[in-house]
Amino acid sequence: MSFLALEGLTRQWDGQGGVRDISLDLRQGAFLSILGPSGCGKSTILRLIAGLEQPQAGRIKIDGRDVTALPTAQRNLSMVFQSYALFPHLSVAENVIFGLKVRRVARAERAHRLAEVLAMTGLTGLERRKPSELSGGQRQRVALARAAVAERPLCLMDEPLSNLDAKLRHSVRRDIRMLARKLALTVIYVTHDQGEAMSLSDKVVLMRDGRIEQVGAPADLYARPASTFAAQFIGEPAMSLIDGAALGQDGAITIGLRPEAVSLAPAGHGDLDARIDDIEYLGGETRMALRHPAAEGLAAILPGPAQFEPGQTVGVLIPKENRLLFDSVTGSLKKEPQQNPKARIRQNPAPEDGHKAPTSTQTAKEDLSK
Ligand SMILES: Nc1ncnc2c1ncn2[C@@H]1O[C@H](COP(=O)(O)OP(=O)(O)OP(=O)(O)O)[C@@H](O)[C@H]1O
Ligand SMILES: [Mg+2]
Repeated sequence: MSFLALEGLTRQWDGQGGVRDISLDLRQGAFLSILGPSGCGKSTILRLIAGLEQPQAGRIKIDGRDVTALPTAQRNLSMVFQSYALFPHLSVAENVIFGLKVRRVARAERAHRLAEVLAMTGLTGLERRKPSELSGGQRQRVALARAAVAERPLCLMDEPLSNLDAKLRHSVRRDIRMLARKLALTVIYVTHDQGEAMSLSDKVVLMRDGRIEQVGAPADLYARPASTFAAQFIGEPAMSLIDGAALGQDGAITIGLRPEAVSLAPAGHGDLDARIDDIEYLGGETRMALRHPAAEGLAAILPGPAQFEPGQTVGVLIPKENRLLFDSVTGSLKKEPQQNPKARIRQNPAPEDGHKAPTSTQTAKEDLSK
């Protein structure tokens, strides 16, 4: 049985914005990210689940119970938002246990849970500090500790890391993942950062203009994006899109290609010739921005240092088995990439919610209509 079920949720304002017809199932203990560009409806979904917003249509079930009409306090969930919303005049410890006091949890129990959660979030020793005496990362961890100490099975997070600098985002991201595992939380995590969604989640919901574009395990979305929108939103650098005609393809086809599938050859020896715009050497790999009139965002990731110079024209090799074919008009995926015979033998369906991320060579069956 699913732990969280959204059934046809719609919430709009004057027939605009918000979200339409959102259906989703999540097992207990799963880490789900809601991903998408600004204004696509991510926070609206979270606010509906939290009970801060009422749907115009559809139902919400948590742990088998229909909570659609229940107030937030009766939904048995915790929340972490982008603004830490800490009380400035209370210490770290007081901020963390504030909710437990309100719920009249006994003093000894409070102290026990506080010590545990402070240790888990790496805040031990800071309990007497005020929020103004903490770094951004520490404040965010206080907000996490406050949500964790509530011991609610469902935790909703709305862009909890966006106030942090890149380095802190990384370390707090790990904290969140570890905390969720330790406490066996079911987490719904809103972000516009595809790297965050891909690295944290068992399952990703990609949103576009108030609707679900694609649902799947991170590796599914990466290997088989349902549309050019998904293909370009996920992956860094994004998937290259090449006009099919440039590669001798019939019909109105756009060819999608991950940059690591590309290799380079001398000009005239590849599937097409492109100019090297930029070379970025990163130690283990080299990233190249390439230019061709029929390609959008053509890029290559090559192992080790590059043997080429910016401005040079090179042949770009685009293996047939790595090409994804999209309908140029609708943008939707036309056909799965060809697999090599070995991969076909190893194929097996992914467990529900993509608990273990399948490799790109496996063919996980995910209901894309969800
Ligand atoms: N109270 C409201 N009244 C009118 N329109 C709203 C309201 N809340 C949200 N919207 C609209 O609904 C759409 C989705 O908003 P939402 O806040 O869910 O987006 P989001 O994906 O969280 O964006 P961001 O990444 O910028 O936070 C937007 O177009 C927004 O303007
Ligand atoms: Mg938002």
